[in-house]
Amino acid sequence: MNSHVKPLIRPDEMRLFKEYITELFGLVLDKNNEGLLTNKLLPRLEGLSLASFADYYAYLKYAPRRKDEHKLLLSLVTNNETYFFREEPQLRVLSEVVLPALKEKKLKCGERKLRIVSAGCSSGEEVYTLAMLVIESGCFLWDWDVEIRGVDIDPQIIERAKSGIYSGRAFQATPTHYIDRYFRKCDEGLKVKDILTRITRFTEGNLLELEQIIEEQTVDIVFCRNVLIYFNDESIKRGVHGFANVLLPEGHLFLGHSESLSRITCNYIPVRFPGAIIYKKRD
Ligand SMILES: C[S@@+](CC[C@H](N)C(=O)[O-])C[C@H]1O[C@@H](n2cnc3c(N)ncnc32)[C@H](O)[C@@H]1O
Repeated sequence: MNSHVKPLIRPDEMRLFKEYITELFGLVLDKNNEGLLTNKLLPRLEGLSLASFADYYAYLKYAPRRKDEHKLLLSLVTNNETYFFREEPQLRVLSEVVLPALKEKKLKCGERKLRIVSAGCSSGEEVYTLAMLVIESGCFLWDWDVEIRGVDIDPQIIERAKSGIYSGRAFQATPTHYIDRYFRKCDEGLKVKDILTRITRFTEGNLLELEQIIEEQTVDIVFCRNVLIYFNDESIKRGVHGFANVLLPEGHLFLGHSESLSRITCNYIPVRFPGAIIYKKRD
């Protein structure tokens, strides 16, 4: 490619790219993202010595190494914004209502196991927040088998989550006593302590294919916050049906505050609290 002439993306090529991104990952890019998408794709064309966007599209669809390129493409188009203790009203409902009720129910049937999934967990702040809240609730200590698992489609972000090292904005909403109790200083910032890593786990995966990584009817609670806003209705439907498959009967689903299931599915019953709506799987 002549390095002085930057290839242009034609409107029909842009439409094909956007449709393919939706098909692959469920993500919908609106018109405002088009300029950004073009700028992000250009270095990939250069990296692969391709002359046009049409060539890059063909590479994504047919090249033997296309799966590796899909991962790179995904890192370019996803929004990984996250921080500890995001959307506090929902977290309060989890701590004060859902966890105590779950404990009571589980004690009655003699099962001392808790499974929570964060689908679209980004760099792990949501997962470690949930781990801190489960520990602080005091409901599942001692001989309970607890696992909070983060799943994200972006392999680079999953590696960051596994490292458990954070700084700056990640702590913008974190009460100081959690920092003192659950983090220790390291060269790069603050690292989560073993008490959190013991009950957490991270897996690379597509939430639209959750049943490929998580056994059916084994999960008590799914968090999927600030992920579905980037999906179209069809992909949201696919995602939440998948959550219903892995959730136990009457399991709970937490979505972001701007995400709703009205018009999408009747598999869940909305339960309203001050400042938060959560969803319960219909029996
Ligand atoms: C904005 S972050 C939300 C992080 C966290 N849930 C929160 O609320 O702070 C969205 C994350 O969803 C992930 N994601 C997008 N599409 C996905 C898919 N199909 N499967 C799994 N993760 C996905 C992105 O990689 C990104 O890390």
